[in-house]
Amino acid sequence: MCGIVGAIARRNITPILLEGLKRLEYRGYDSAGMAVVRDSELQRERESGKVAGLEAALADRNLSGQLGIAHTRWATHGKPSRHNAHPHLSTASVAVVHNGIIENFELLKQRLQEQGYCFHSETDTEVIAHLFDANYRQQPRDDASRLLAAFRATLAELDGAYALGIVHRDYPQELLCARMGSPLVIGVGSGEHFIASDPLALLQVTDRFIYLEEGDHAHLTADTCEMFSETLGDAGRSKPVYDAGRLGSVPSARSNLSTQPVSSPVQPAGSDPKSSSGCWSPVRRPVQRFEHGDQAASKGDYRHFMLKEIHEQPEVLTRTLADKLTPEGQLLTAALGPKAAELLPQIKQVQIVACGTSYHAGLVARYWIEGLAGLPCSVEVASEFRYRHVAVMPGTLFVTLSQSGETADTLAALRFAKSAGYLSTLAICNVPGSSLFRESQLRLMTHAGPEIGVASTKAFTTQLAVLALLALVLGRESGEMKETAVEEAFAALQVLPQQVRQVLELEPAIAELANGFADKRHTLFLGRGVHYPVAMEGALKLKEISYIHAEAYAAGELKHGPLALVDDEMPVVTVAPSDELLEKLKSNLQEVRARGGRLINFVCQQAGLNNDDGIRNLPLPKADELVTPILYSVPLQLFSYHVALVKGTDVDKPRNLAKSVTVE
Ligand code: F6R
Repeated sequence: MCGIVGAIARRNITPILLEGLKRLEYRGYDSAGMAVVRDSELQRERESGKVAGLEAALADRNLSGQLGIAHTRWATHGKPSRHNAHPHLSTASVAVVHNGIIENFELLKQRLQEQGYCFHSETDTEVIAHLFDANYRQQPRDDASRLLAAFRATLAELDGAYALGIVHRDYPQELLCARMGSPLVIGVGSGEHFIASDPLALLQVTDRFIYLEEGDHAHLTADTCEMFSETLGDAGRSKPVYDAGRLGSVPSARSNLSTQPVSSPVQPAGSDPKSSSGCWSPVRRPVQRFEHGDQAASKGDYRHFMLKEIHEQPEVLTRTLADKLTPEGQLLTAALGPKAAELLPQIKQVQIVACGTSYHAGLVARYWIEGLAGLPCSVEVASEFRYRHVAVMPGTLFVTLSQSGETADTLAALRFAKSAGYLSTLAICNVPGSSLFRESQLRLMTHAGPEIGVASTKAFTTQLAVLALLALVLGRESGEMKETAVEEAFAALQVLPQQVRQVLELEPAIAELANGFADKRHTLFLGRGVHYPVAMEGALKLKEISYIHAEAYAAGELKHGPLALVDDEMPVVTVAPSDELLEKLKSNLQEVRARGGRLINFVCQQAGLNNDDGIRNLPLPKADELVTPILYSVPLQLFSYHVALVKGTDVDKPRNLAKSVTVE
């Protein structure tokens, strides 16, 4: 949430910052701003609303310089408005952009006000600017590292989560940044450096990135990048600067990313980096190449990122399965990590924790893990799990699911779980450099590629594919599944991408269904068994992008309450593949029809359901039961997309939402 971009270069960086903001807009879009240092002056422009508003405002101003920071906001403290937009300034000297929440801002604000600082916004971020200024003034004037010392003194006083970019008007060659609880990468250019919340923001200028870790801060010039970690390190170590002219790679103490570091290390000798205000050690982080290419940040010929991402599913499912299966269709246990072979036989049960769409993937997985592997499996939303006293049974594998790998609640749940007695931690995640990935013992990558549409689509189906594989591995390990059954299941997964392609061809028919639906204000989604969470995900998709109120129910629950809502103004959408529960579901559909309710059924071709007055069926190809939750998710995504199109909402940036929820 919130997007940060910054640059220090030998060319005008304002077009780079603006393009970066456009690419980061999925992280927040209620206001945007930019500050640039030029001729010992800080120039700033801010606008409420989307980045296009800022762009229009910039067209009337000659904002240019070689050092600058910019921000697109998702409001936490203070309503979305121009005066709450970042960057925030102090005494026209310091400019700050921030993603996260400063929890002790009220205390700091009071102290700074007593010192004479005037506040011009309701944000927590503004305290950082004034605090930095106050700390800067306290450092000896002749101290060569005055700026860095002020930065460290400031960081030492902040409680909460932050990714920060800071510039000072008297230091036109220096950019400061820090990460604690919110992601931040350094982009490495040729004689220039950049910072951003996400590499996507910078693919126009570089494909080489350093992923800062928790507690890191960095001091950047066009040519140098010094990184420091909050923890105590080896005092005798050389200063970890690398030469930006060459592609440097220095191994990280903690990180073990799946993306390979590139090239060889460059480690010039350096000096003692310790600050008077805290314990900071120089730290080494690898430079990594971004593997997806710049087209990942573009819509191509599609009208929306969401539509592009829905259509990418056959390809990304293939890619996600490919690195976990041998050419013969055997699962590579080693794909889980080096400890997998030792840990798998010890797993007695599974606890899954996630948020939103990822949570729905976990709910589907419970049916698979219990049904195929015979292991008890619990699934919980991270925001509840993290604050609960949990009883942990021996041999429980703790699994987190996340597209971004930075979701604050999921990350907090993982950190809690690491000391709660779980057997091991497994992250199923789409971003290899993410905190969740780095901090888990076992890892499985979804190779969905960058997901930019705020509504998650391809990340969900690739998570399901990986979870199906996990259930099969556990099933084989527990002896619950015979080898032939495992092989059949692998074969079903391998034909899935082709079946998804067939479903995508049904888009015109799905769009037609959506046409007659867009004037509705409420709807129910029904499913049974493993397709109940699929219905939940369908309802979430519809509400988040079309703003139509949608609730999902297990179809058997209908007459325990929700049936009271059904009339001809309350359409009911059902997920009805041909499984053992189909006949029971059909009875539930009769109950709806008998009350005048209108049905839209996503059904198996062979289900024997006919279009009738008040009943519209969308027949889908017959598929193996293992993969139907994945297959039936796709038309639900298309349905929501087309309803939103008819309603004219902003599909990729639905109101009040943003991607990558890095705040609690
Ligand atoms: C809904 C959606 C969200 C995310 C949730 C978790 O379409 O995208 O519900 O699924 O915020 O995000 P990740 O998976 O990044 O942890």
